[in-house]
Amino acid sequence: MEGSYRAACGFNEVITLNSKSETRNTKMDTIIKVENLCKVYYENKPYEVKAIADINLEIRKNVFVVFSGPSGSGKTTLLSLIGTLDRPTMGTVSLYGEDITAYSDTALSRLRREKIGFVFQNFNLLPRLTSWENVAYPLIPLGYGLKERFGKAKSLLEKFGLGERLYHTPEELSGGQQQKVSIARALINNPEIIIADEPTSNIDAESVETLASILKELQNNGRTIIVSTHYEDLAKKADVVYKMKAGLLL
Ligand SMILES: Nc1ncnc2c1ncn2[C@@H]1O[C@H](COP(=O)(O)OP(=O)(O)O)[C@@H](O)[C@H]1O
Ligand SMILES: [Mg+2]
Repeated sequence: MEGSYRAACGFNEVITLNSKSETRNTKMDTIIKVENLCKVYYENKPYEVKAIADINLEIRKNVFVVFSGPSGSGKTTLLSLIGTLDRPTMGTVSLYGEDITAYSDTALSRLRREKIGFVFQNFNLLPRLTSWENVAYPLIPLGYGLKERFGKAKSLLEKFGLGERLYHTPEELSGGQQQKVSIARALINNPEIIIADEPTSNIDAESVETLASILKELQNNGRTIIVSTHYEDLAKKADVVYKMKAGLLL
């Protein structure tokens, strides 16, 4: 079965899953389940890219999960599929026991708004907006008025020590500060699942420590944390570390 899914995704190599992989399906409080997940970019074109193949895993509520692996191993692709930012070529992603693969774009964006906070590797802040406007941006489609948006963004930014940076634009902030703004934006809707893609790659060592404690605190507050990172010190804080290589989960 495993081999046939990989073959369907164009992967010839069949790697036998180790014993850790086979005990992945035992827990009750699973909130994310990924089955036979494959992603092929530019399918059937000469420059087709097989990004991930036959990924199977379950993530339990309130755990801190890290995906590690070299550049190009498929971490961003997998996090985007789990975070419903992209759709798989094959296989399924289930959230809270429901297969979301067939959801409409509207249903997926509603789900994202309500349940998922995504921190992008390059922060993806809107350059013309100030810190508080960036943080409050996801509240606009939810119908919050200006005062309420400002109040919520301000209190989150103050929590991250950026109370003096409410009116700065991203280019006026350091990498670590931009990252805090992007984390605050991911948290503004109070999501249960926080996904951060290589959050350590654009910040200094000190900011990595701050980031690690922010993520740990979020976990202590009941959130589920899913992170991709190369950074050993961050991986050490995780409950589960998955290693990826060439589109496969090792
Ligand atoms: N949008 C895309 N279009 C085409 N190929 C992509 C795209 N995103 C990623 N890839 C390719 O898919 C593979 C996995 O990439 P990615 O998921 O970004 O890995 P990682 O995050 O581990 O560096 C790489 O070979 C990359 O070049
Ligand atoms: Mg990446």
